[in-house]
Amino acid sequence: MLQVNELNQYYGGSHILRGVSFEVRVGEVTCLLGRNGVGKTTLLKSLMGLVPVKGGSVSWQGKTITQRKPHQRVQAGIAYVPQGREIFPRLTVEENLLMGLSRFSGREAKAVPDEIYQLFPVLKEMKLRRGGDLSGGQQQQLAIGRALACKPQLLILDEPTEGIQPSIIKEIGQVIRHLAGRGDMAILLVEQFYDFAAELADQYLVMSRGEIVQRGHGSAMEQEGVRGLVAI
Ligand SMILES: Nc1ncnc2c1ncn2[C@@H]1O[C@H](COP(=O)(O)OP(=O)(O)O)[C@@H](O)[C@H]1O
Ligand SMILES: [Mg+2]
Repeated sequence: MLQVNELNQYYGGSHILRGVSFEVRVGEVTCLLGRNGVGKTTLLKSLMGLVPVKGGSVSWQGKTITQRKPHQRVQAGIAYVPQGREIFPRLTVEENLLMGLSRFSGREAKAVPDEIYQLFPVLKEMKLRRGGDLSGGQQQQLAIGRALACKPQLLILDEPTEGIQPSIIKEIGQVIRHLAGRGDMAILLVEQFYDFAAELADQYLVMSRGEIVQRGHGSAMEQEGVRGLVAI
C-alpha cells in the first residue's frame, strides 16, 4: 500500500500541493481526477522523487520513502508512466522496453518479458521499429510496457488517454483492468477523461488547486457529481 500523508509542495512562492493525503491499495485502481493545472503531475513527480517534497511523507509497503531518489523508488517496485509518454524516439521498440529492465541484473535484464508482448501484441509486431515511428497510441502502449517491464507492484500513470485514438484507449483500459484484477499491483491513474476513469476506478479522488476536495468509491462517481467537478 502507498500512503501519502499531508504532502506539501511549492514551486518558488506558489503553494502547489496543500496537505494532500490518501492511500493507494493493492488490487485496486485509484483514479485521481482534476482540471488542468491543479497539481496532478506535480503530485506524481513528488511520489517518484523527481521533485523534492517540502512537507509531509510518502510511505510504500510500510517504509517511509520521502527522501529516496527516483531510482531507489523504482528498485522498490514503483513504476511511472509520465504525461506525454517520453519514450526514446531513436531507439527501437525492443530497446525502449529493455530500458525498463534497469532494475534487474544478469539474465533478467537482457530479455523483454514475454508478458509485455502478451499484454500489447502490437509491440511484438513492431519490436524492430523505431519508437518515434509509432502512432501516439502505440507510443503510449510502449511507455506502459516499459514501465511494466520492471515488474512493479505500484504503477503510476499520468493521463494515458491524452491525445489517443478511441480503439487504443479501449485496449489500454483492458490492460489496466487486467493488471488490477491480478491482485498483486496497486494502480494510481491520473485522468481528465471522465468516462475512462469512471469505468476503471475502485476509488476516486478529485483534486482542485492542490487539495483533494472529494473522494469516494469508483461506483459512486456519477451519483456523487464527479462529472461536473472535472468537466472542462
Ligand atoms: N516546473 C515548474 N515550475 C513552476 N511552476 C510549475 C512547474 N510545473 C508546473 N507548475 C505549475 O504548477 C501548477 C500545477 O501543475 P501540474 O502539476 O502540471 O498540474 P496538472 O498536472 O494538474 O495539470 C500549475 O499552475 C503549473 O503552472
Ligand atoms: Mg498534468
